[in-house]
Amino acid sequence: MAVIGGGVGTALIYPWVRSLKEAGNYITTIIGARSSSLILLEKELGALSNEIYISTDDGTKGVKGFTSDILRQILEQGGRFDIVMAAGPVLMMRAVAETTRPHNIKTIISLNPIMVDGTGMCCSCRVTVDGKTRFACVDGPDFDAHKVDFNELMNRLRAYQNEEKILCRDSARKLR
Ligand code: FES
Repeated sequence: MAVIGGGVGTALIYPWVRSLKEAGNYITTIIGARSSSLILLEKELGALSNEIYISTDDGTKGVKGFTSDILRQILEQGGRFDIVMAAGPVLMMRAVAETTRPHNIKTIISLNPIMVDGTGMCCSCRVTVDGKTRFACVDGPDFDAHKVDFNELMNRLRAYQNEEKILCRDSARKLR
């Protein structure tokens, strides 16, 4: 099986990899970040994994590109996985889902990154899965990636993009 972590989502895959390894699985781990200094748990995951691949957006370590690029390459070269699991930015998880879909590989993603209060009260983690409304913190956080409505999810995540930019800009000014 393949386990994929992006950015801080790499911390989420560590317990997955450890348990799956303890259960006797052959683990291919793929981790990625924007740059080499942001790669997490490389040594720890490397020690648990049968194979480990790294990608960075800027090419400062491993493959220049994304974790899904590495996964695509492995699949194109004939590699096969029973299950692919991924945690990280929603954009990355969508790319992983679209990479495995044509190969009909069961793909599980963690929607932990979209949670805010984690109690079922704030509604920020609302997501449509298989045509039904779900809350990541109550009904998940792990879901079948091929059933998640990523278009709707991405649109919702962009809803306050302008306000977030203004807030970041104002906070940066105050720190100067
Ligand atoms: S994180 Fe607030 S409802 Fe799920």
